[in-house]
Amino acid sequence: MNDRIYLTGFMGSGKTTVGQALGKALGYQVIDTDQWIEEDQQKKIKEIFNEGGEKLFRSLETAALRELTQKKAVITTGGGIILKEENRQIMKGSGTVIFLDCAIEEVIRRTSNDDSRPLLKEKSKGDIQSMYEDRLPLYKEADIHLDTTGRSILEIVA
Ligand code: S3P
Repeated sequence: MNDRIYLTGFMGSGKTTVGQALGKALGYQVIDTDQWIEEDQQKKIKEIFNEGGEKLFRSLETAALRELTQKKAVITTGGGIILKEENRQIMKGSGTVIFLDCAIEEVIRRTSNDDSRPLLKEKSKGDIQSMYEDRLPLYKEADIHLDTTGRSILEIVA
């Protein structure tokens, strides 16, 4: 098994839950890029977006990824990590990338009334669906494409 497993996928696709279970099953540490950034900056993601915009957040995300290439871990990533080619290269070059795909209806259900994700603020269901569709080809560059719809955590981990 590779030293690093990156879980990618859209907001609300279950990366955190699956990552925790996968880490336990493999005996790997689990590191979340958003949490890493929040601890490093001593700020919530929402505050980082408010103060420095998405551009600042994306540069912090790349810096975090670079540091994490030294760890043996299951790394759960923010949904937009795949947007930068540099990030996709860092992940592919240092581990196995698994795209956790999930029906968009389920994603919308899970993320509704969520104010911790700045990019979903004031977005309609149609907007969220188009964001997902725009990102899909980038997610699909992963080594493994796993459709989690209707599957239990145990099945996904297996
Ligand atoms: C983002 C997803 C979030 C977080 C930030 C931006 C995105 O992480 O990194 O709000 O661009 O999809 P989750 O996928 O864990 O919600």
